Amino acid sequence: MFRCSTFSLFLLSLLPAISSLPCIGVTHHSHPPSSHRIPTALHSLNINSLLLRDSDPHIIQAFLYTNVSIVLTIPNTLVSSIGTNRSHALQWLYRHVVPFYPRVNITTISVGNDFTVASPKFVDLLFPAIRNVHLSLREIGIRNVTVSTSFSFTGVITKSFPPSTARFQDFPGVDLIGPILQFLRHTNSSFLINLYPYNMYRLNSAIPIGFALFLEYPFNFRDDVAAGVRYQNLFDMMIDAVVSAMAAAGYENIPIVVTETGWPSAADAVAGNEEDVNKVYAEIYLKGLVKHLKSGKGTPLRKEGVAGVYIYELFDEEKKGTQESGQHWGILYPNLTNRYSFQFSGSWSAGAGEAKACMKILLEVSFLFLLLLSY
Ligand SMILES: *[C@@H]1O[C@H](CO)[C@@H](O)[C@H](O)[C@H]1NC(C)=O
Ligand SMILES: *[C@@H]1O[C@H](CO)[C@@H](O)[C@H](O)[C@H]1NC(C)=O
Ligand SMILES: *[C@@H]1O[C@H](CO)[C@@H](O)[C@H](O)[C@H]1NC(C)=O
Ligand SMILES: *[C@@H]1O[C@H](CO)[C@@H](O)[C@H](O)[C@H]1NC(C)=O
Ligand SMILES: *[C@@H]1O[C@H](CO)[C@@H](O)[C@H](O)[C@H]1NC(C)=O
Ligand SMILES: *[C@@H]1O[C@H](CO)[C@@H](O)[C@H](O)[C@H]1NC(C)=O
Repeated sequence: MFRCSTFSLFLLSLLPAISSLPCIGVTHHSHPPSSHRIPTALHSLNINSLLLRDSDPHIIQAFLYTNVSIVLTIPNTLVSSIGTNRSHALQWLYRHVVPFYPRVNITTISVGNDFTVASPKFVDLLFPAIRNVHLSLREIGIRNVTVSTSFSFTGVITKSFPPSTARFQDFPGVDLIGPILQFLRHTNSSFLINLYPYNMYRLNSAIPIGFALFLEYPFNFRDDVAAGVRYQNLFDMMIDAVVSAMAAAGYENIPIVVTETGWPSAADAVAGNEEDVNKVYAEIYLKGLVKHLKSGKGTPLRKEGVAGVYIYELFDEEKKGTQESGQHWGILYPNLTNRYSFQFSGSWSAGAGEAKACMKILLEVSFLFLLLLSY
């Protein structure tokens, strides 16, 4: 009981803002509601960054003369043709960038999304595609739109725990990561990664739910003995796995942007094992994430932390293959009302739901603690 009220106090407290905090944005996929409502939706959430996975020109157009910064994604299905023929990169840019730039604040183009997993046979064409898009932008005379690609954590990192042992996966016969990192450094671009503590937690029964949900209570930590650092949450561990893999590959200090993260709030009754899919957990995760990012604390291996985080996702997506079917991840209902009671900026307060979940988690933790004591 005592600990639980401490927890509520912790949720109520807001740390003062520190300069150069990561930008917090949201992802949007092909889906109604109609495009003209998206700027309003972002405005209501006080969010100024949007990552488009399906870069529909109508949606891009909706952001003319707004200050919302936009990340575009080139679909995986176009990556191999763009990798083999630069004029296909130009064609894409002429349809998705040239009509809008710079009146739409397009900042980054992600060439593919989780391409190494989606199209393993064409991995050798990913870097040529990135380079072709970059060269084509230069040809058009656009110099301040950066080019990168979104990896997925599980698709690119091996041996992720402890974080200091993490390495990039090898892609047989293809020198992929080295050239991409060199390109990112050379062009001042960021390493983009989709990172879901939710998935890691589900795959790993040794991870307590509180560690995945940013809860703060005694003994909720993991040590990386080799690196001599302590982790208070799974998100930081996964970020530092990326940091370590980059360092091992010979590249430090490339900014990291989390292009997708989130927690499903509901599931249509299909899979069965969905007890960790609920609105309370989703809200705790998102609140904890935002609070952590706003604290400016960074991660143990990267003091400045990540450069940006995009929350998956603005509206629930129709099943498209990347996530399990029937799950709801959207932070807005289709009628644009907020699924959650908290703000991405400003103050928030703990509701009854969290208090209950907090009790449950504390009971679990106390139980673990008793187990430990009994040894
Ligand atoms: C965008 O930013 C500029 C400069 O900061 C400001 O003058 C303008 O009013 C902003 N526009 C919108 C739509 O917020
Ligand atoms: C465009 O977005 C970038 C990155 O978020 C920001 O620094 C810049 O001020 C924005 N430009 C305008 C005109 O809003
Ligand atoms: C590249 O694509 C363009 C436009 O589709 C086509 O005209 C050209 O022949 C292609 N070049 C090669 C080498 O295939
Ligand atoms: C890129 O440059 C254009 C033209 O100078 C400017 O209007 C735009 O705000 C810049 N975009 C970013 C993301 O800095
Ligand atoms: C990258 O950033 C550095 C430091 O801000 C700058 O000097 C350099 O010109 C930039 N390079 C490119 C290719 O934009
Ligand atoms: C929006 O939709 C949600 C979920 O269907 C519902 O609970 C809520 O009452 C709706 N809000 C409005 C204002 O219609």
